[in-house]
Amino acid sequence: MERKTISNAVIKRLPRYYRYLGELLESGVERISSNDLSRRMKVTASQIRQDLNNFGGFGQQGYGYNVKFLYEEIGKILGVNQRHNMIIIGAGNLGQAIANYGNFEKRGFLVKAMFDINQELIGKYFGGVLVLDMKEMECFVKSHDIQIAALAIPKQKAEEIAHKLAECGVKGLWNFAHTDLNLEENVMVENVHLSESLMRLSYRIAQSEQT
Ligand code: NAI
Repeated sequence: MERKTISNAVIKRLPRYYRYLGELLESGVERISSNDLSRRMKVTASQIRQDLNNFGGFGQQGYGYNVKFLYEEIGKILGVNQRHNMIIIGAGNLGQAIANYGNFEKRGFLVKAMFDINQELIGKYFGGVLVLDMKEMECFVKSHDIQIAALAIPKQKAEEIAHKLAECGVKGLWNFAHTDLNLEENVMVENVHLSESLMRLSYRIAQSEQT
């Protein structure tokens, strides 16, 4: 497939297309028009056509989109057609919640281990994932082809640990710690801040009350 630079806005929407198409596939829908997809996703049909045209457009006039084909193509673009080995740094409340959520595995994200400094957590299992001593992290990452690390540790430690992970060859950091990581290494960072999402919701509630 021809590769070109895709805007961040489009990339942000792709997982949503992927989710909807996955649900359609599960319910046995083989093809869908952009109008129908638009109604379900509450995105305009022209936005859908524009977004998917970025990848050469997978639709055919009068036929619509082949759901399985589109699902697989978007999966390739998102890289979820491959398996990604992942670890979680910090086995506290959040780390445990991530480990206990089985759906990541279905998407090809395999949590291979968790790491912590707390001796009371080391040796325990959460969602079938073993907590190892942080001292073993470096060696484990190198020997288990770990690509992604979820950071569920206090923010004061995040930057230092992020550098160490990058040095060990980790390609992506899924950062939950409340800090913006400044890394010069070639590592991708995706920040997830639930409280920011909650603040956007509170803003929208406040706006709606004003009208
Ligand atoms: P927690 O205190 O339950 O867990 C943190 C864990 O990190 C503890 O088990 C601790 O022993 C471990 N830890 C501390 N220093 C470490 C180190 N140097 N190496 C390895 N492990 C270390 O905290 P919780 O609730 O799980 O939150 C974790 C982090 O995620 C915090 O920074 C919190 O602010 C953040 N957070 C972010 C959210 C978001 O939406 N981005 C939502 C909830 C929490």
